[in-house]
This record gives sequence, structure tokens and C-alpha cells, in this order.
Amino acid sequence: MCGIMGIVSKKEILPAVIDGLRALEYRGYDSVGVVWQSGEGLRVKRVVGRVDKLAGEMDPAATARSALGHTRWATHGAPTECNAHPHRDPSGRFAVVHNGIIDNYAELKQELLAQGATFSSETDTEVIAHLIARAYKGDLLAAVEEVLPRLVGVYALGVMCADEPELLIGARKGSPLTIGLGDGETMLASDVVPFLSHTRQACYLNDGEVAVLRPEGFEVRKEGKPLTPDIRTIEWSAEDAGREGYEHYMLKEIYEQPKALKTLIDARLSLPEKGLPRIHVPEEDIPDAALDTVKRIVLLAHGTAYHAAMIGRLLIERVARIPCYPEYASDFRYRNPIMEPGTLYVVITQSGETIDTLSALRLVKDTGHPTLALVNVPSSTMAREADYVFPLMAGPEIGVASTKAFTSMVAALYILALRFGIRRGTESEASLRRRAGDLLRVSSRMHEVLLKCDFLKDIALKYKDKEHFLFLGRGAGWPLALEGALKLKEISYIHAEGMNSSEIKHGPLALVDEEMPVLFITLKGERYDRLLSNLNEVKARHGRIIAIVSQDDEDIHQHADEVFRIHDDCGVMNSILCSAPLQLLAYHAAVARGCDVDKPKNLAKSVTVE
Ligand code: G6P
Repeated sequence: MCGIMGIVSKKEILPAVIDGLRALEYRGYDSVGVVWQSGEGLRVKRVVGRVDKLAGEMDPAATARSALGHTRWATHGAPTECNAHPHRDPSGRFAVVHNGIIDNYAELKQELLAQGATFSSETDTEVIAHLIARAYKGDLLAAVEEVLPRLVGVYALGVMCADEPELLIGARKGSPLTIGLGDGETMLASDVVPFLSHTRQACYLNDGEVAVLRPEGFEVRKEGKPLTPDIRTIEWSAEDAGREGYEHYMLKEIYEQPKALKTLIDARLSLPEKGLPRIHVPEEDIPDAALDTVKRIVLLAHGTAYHAAMIGRLLIERVARIPCYPEYASDFRYRNPIMEPGTLYVVITQSGETIDTLSALRLVKDTGHPTLALVNVPSSTMAREADYVFPLMAGPEIGVASTKAFTSMVAALYILALRFGIRRGTESEASLRRRAGDLLRVSSRMHEVLLKCDFLKDIALKYKDKEHFLFLGRGAGWPLALEGALKLKEISYIHAEGMNSSEIKHGPLALVDEEMPVLFITLKGERYDRLLSNLNEVKARHGRIIAIVSQDDEDIHQHADEVFRIHDDCGVMNSILCSAPLQLLAYHAAVARGCDVDKPKNLAKSVTVE
């Protein structure tokens, strides 16, 4: 993963590069470093830990007009200062920051060792600095272009040379890299968020491209030849990417869900006084005619997006009556999948960069099947490479634990299901109108749910010292249970398992005793009776029961220890409403346990290595 941030400017920019690294910490945060052009060559500062530590240890007198920084998520070599980026060649004149993995680095290192080179780190990146130094004949661009064909693997690179102080070079193959065009300064970063307070003019590099950055502008090249760059205006603003007074990004993003849902649903769906609901289809989305050939849908995703895909299967099969298969993208692509004609492949991804999902998308595209990306980050790699795009419009999501992107994914999948249902006439007009009404109501219901969520803080405090947690549900409640468990384990480090409650008696019931909190998603509706019997099975084994229940459920008190009520009149979209208490339970438990909510240990938000 790792985050890269560099600026070359007419002004002093060292603090701006360090601030930019803060905005990229979600990509990795085990160590951090920066290299800058001082009057006497390149200077480097690296620390194990976070950007704040680096900022605190910087020489206050240091200034620079050109600098490159890196926040690391370790792949090759432990998170030590020696392994932190930037890496330099032994002369110290060349510095490299890298996101990705160089697969043939051991071979390259052997070759360099045989020529007498000495290394100061265990990283794959250091070999690149050595190779560039050896290829340099007074022209950094030429040296980088000579070295790149020797690198096997994936990379986003930033390169500097002491002898060419007004120059930064970027190169991309497989890992994201973006250029920001400011006033008298040009920036290089892993995504646009660190640019937003400087500029909204950006150019996204494609694989195989090299960027040459100078204060007055940039050039993009491929195979040694210049290209015309595609400069776009970024839709997000600096305010969208700020914390706006919330203690954590995750909390802000949880509370942004009503707005995110409303933005998406209002843009895509309307319900006239009479007749069928209307779905609004932007140009980049799949055209109606292409929908008619679809016989089967495969949903490809990872992490939270995979849980959204599981709910998506239920929605699409129920409303559109099209067979639908959620798949982990990595499992799909490595098992030589059977790809039948008439299949629509949908990648679901917040970042648009997850390497396994991206690789599955490329595999599908190579076989000529249609691809649609449900993606939050506009102009991310998947948004650019998929045939069709369904933008999630949730705004920047910075907290590592995904929240608002999840609920927007579920809403988007329902809109997709409705679109098929309307076009194919799989349900009556009345039923489709009811579903559209559910969706149009969900944003205000989510707002109401969030208003009473303070109660979850008390529950979190009560259970925060438990070692294990179970989350159970059926139907849409099953993926929600998986998502609730994922949220809790990823940010509070409490071991949690989510499962289909029908599975409890096939083994996991053996875990239940008075020490085991069990959260049930028990809204009224189909399968309620079955859920209630599962709940009683747990109760009989003295499990501590927390239940998310329907507003008017009067009986549940006899069965559950803690009850969270939801005004559940949004049909199958009630699933979106249940996710808020799950997110907040995890949030408050993590805060109470003193965990770093936005940057959980060992994780990164955008997983761009396999
Ligand atoms: C990482 C993140 C998760 C996210 C998953 C998929 O594991 O920590 O929050 O759900 O990647 O990411 P994507 O950007 O493809 O939705």
C-alpha cells in the first residue's frame, strides 16, 4: 500500500509535503520519511511511527522547494528506520519512494552485490535507487526510463536527484499515482486528497506512464515519447476531506451517511405520482440495451465491499430474478473461472484501487465480458478501466474502517436491482413503487437512527473488556453480522465472528456461555420466528444477548439483555439502518479501549499489494 507525496515548487514546501503525508496515512502508517533538496544536496529524515512524530523531529530550520515523502505499510523488511522510505543510493544523490512490490528484486540485488554494491535496508526499493544511480549520465529522466523495463512487479515511484533540484520523476505500473497542477508548483501523490488544499486540477497516470514534474508544469511520457495529458477537475473539495470537528474520520463518515445516501438516491431515482419509478442513468453507466442481454451477474469485491455484494445478491435475485454470485475477486481470478456468455461482471470497491479486485476486472475485460464498476473514488483506476461506471457519490472516505461507502454500495445495488426489475417487469408496478419508496425514505430514517445511537456507547462500555463477540443474522442480517464483526475486530481488536444464525447449532454454540456477548440482528419480517428460536438457544446457554430489533417489537425484552430499536419501515433497505448501530458499537468499543480508530494496527485502507 504506502502513500507517496511530493512537491516541486517556486516556494518553500516542506511543511506542505508533511501535511500531505498526513492525508495519506490511511494507506499505511508503520514508518514515514521525507527527502528534500537542501542547498547541500539531498537530506533525509525517517522515523518509525506516524507523521506527527516525523513533524516533531524535523529540523525547524529545514526548508526546501522540492521534496518527496512516503508513509509505509511494510511488505519487504520490518518497519524499522532503515527500511523506511525514501531510499538512497550509496552516494546519497538519488532518492526513491515506492508503493508496490518489485518481484525480481532479489535477482537484481544479487547482480548489484556481485558488482560490489552495499545495501543499508532489506527492502526491494533500495535496488531501484542503486540502478538509477548506475544508469545516470547527467539526465535523471533518461536514467529512470532506462531502469523501469528491468523492474518486474508493481510500483508507483517518486524519484529525485541532487543534481537536478527542480525536477521530480513519477512512474506507475499497477499502483496509483496522480499529478496535481498548482500555481507555480506541481505535485505527485498516491491519490488526490493531499492536493485538495492546493489545487483541484489533476492528471491520473496510467500504467506504463512516466511523469516529469517541474514547478511550472509537467509532462507525461510512455515508452520514451510524450503524451497529451488528460487534466481533470477533481470533484471533491478540501472541506469534504477534513474532519470538521469530529474526533475521528470514522465518526464523521458514520454521521455523513444520511447525506451520502440522499445524494446518491436523489441523483438516480424518482417516483412520479403514478406509474413505474424512474431510474436516471448517467452516460457512464451501463446503457439499457446492454441490460437486456444479461443472464447472470457476478459481483467481485473484498472486505466490506464483499459484504455489500452479499446483500446485493439478495436484492438482485429478489427484485430482478437474475442469478447473482458474490465472489472474492482474488479467489475468482486464481481459480480459472468458468465465464459464461451473458454474464455481467460488477466490481464493487470504495477506493477503485484494491489490487485483487482490479486484477479480476482486467481478467474479465480480457475475455471480452462487460464490466461495471460500483466505485466511490471518481477517476480511480477501476473507474477508468471498467466499461461502465456507477459512481457511489459518498465523498472521500478516509477512516480505514469503511462505513458510508458500505451503505452507499447497498443502496446502489438496490438501484441496479430496481433498474433490472423495471425493465424486465419482474414485479408488479405496486411492488416496484413500494421498493422505490423504501429507498427514498432510507436517508431520513438513517438520520433518526443516528440521533439515538448514544445508547450504544453504554453498551460498548459494558462489553469493552470481553475477549470474543458473536454477530448473528439471517437473510440480509447475515452479511450485516459479518460486517458488524469485521468492524469490531478491525478497530477494537476484540475477536469477533459473524455468521448466519442458522449455523450456530452446527458448532459455534459450543462457544456460548455467560462470558460471550452475542449480537442478533432480529428485525421483524421473514425469518423472525427462526431468529427468535436461535436467540433462545443462545439464551439457554447463558449468552449475553444484544438485539437490534423493530421499533414495535414488544416481546423481545423477555429474551435479550440489551435492545436497540429501529424504525424499520424501509423493507429490505432496513439492512442499511442496522449497519449504523453496528458501526457505532465498534467505534465506541475502540475508543473505550484506547485504540487508534482511524488507523488500526497492521491495516491500510487501500490494499494495492496482493
Ligand atoms: C481494505 C479496507 C476495507 C475495504 C477493503 C476493500 O481491506 O481496509 O475497509 O473494505 O480494503 O476496499 P475497496 O476500496 O476495494 O472497497
